[in-house]
Amino acid sequence: MTRTVYVNGDYLPEGDAKISIFDRGFLMADGVYEVTSVLGGKLIDFEGHAVRLKRSLDELEMAEPCSKEELLEIHRKLVALNEIEEGLVYLQVTRGSDGDRDFVFPSADTKPTIVLFTQNKPGLADSPAAKKGAKIISIEDIRWGRRDIKTVQLLYPSMGKMMAKKAGADDAWMIEDGHVTEGTSNNAYFVKDGVIVTRPLSNDILHGITRKAVLRMAEEAQMKIEERLFTIEEAKEADEAFTTSASAFVMPVVEIDGVALGDGTPGPIAKRLREIYLEESMNAAI
Ligand code: PDD
Repeated sequence: MTRTVYVNGDYLPEGDAKISIFDRGFLMADGVYEVTSVLGGKLIDFEGHAVRLKRSLDELEMAEPCSKEELLEIHRKLVALNEIEEGLVYLQVTRGSDGDRDFVFPSADTKPTIVLFTQNKPGLADSPAAKKGAKIISIEDIRWGRRDIKTVQLLYPSMGKMMAKKAGADDAWMIEDGHVTEGTSNNAYFVKDGVIVTRPLSNDILHGITRKAVLRMAEEAQMKIEERLFTIEEAKEADEAFTTSASAFVMPVVEIDGVALGDGTPGPIAKRLREIYLEESMNAAI
């Protein structure tokens, strides 16, 4: 089935969608994005993603392409047109183009570019990868200093994933000044003696929508949480570890830099949080 995608007001077959070669998203990575998951044909935490999108746009003084209500309608229409039961909706907004390449931003009335497409992922919730757990390597974090803004500058995270693959692992956690920041496309946690440890929010990490929901659910389930800086050595000595993201929910981590955590299988807290997250967020999906 050819996907129907959304580009600047039009719903088109994916092969017919066109963007200018002068678009600043293409030339300068001058764009922001969101990834919203779909379960049971409904959007998970749309509100959280819409709020974060607005914040990313504001931080970069970029115009909003449309209202939140219109955004919801586009998401829903694409999910319906592409018959997505389980999968993702990718949304990207760029500063657009005034028809040339220039470091200076184009005038404020330049129309932003907005693109959305779906990714069909049957079995996203009941994922074999989550049953196995992920193997992680650690790499240096050499990204820019505003990781709280969800920009499309994803070359280094992409290289990090490739470093992990070459090392026979699934993903990488990044380290700056001796402390873990986050995963290439997820937030990072370990559990020791029943306490869930994760880095506090700052400009150093993306403020994960899944992170916020999972920490709230963990608190409601009377689990102990410490938001503080942590080292990769602490994580290697943990009982278990996991990551969170809209695309993989709660993903258990079973190995860090070749060191197995616990018995080398997904830990009980990660498994429980995945169950709670899936159940609660499916109930609240719109
Ligand atoms: N990535 N940290 C980074 C660097 C991320 O790229 C992501 C999400 C997260 C988790 O955020 P959330 O829970 O809001 O998805 C943390 C998306 C899924 C991606 O790039 O595909």
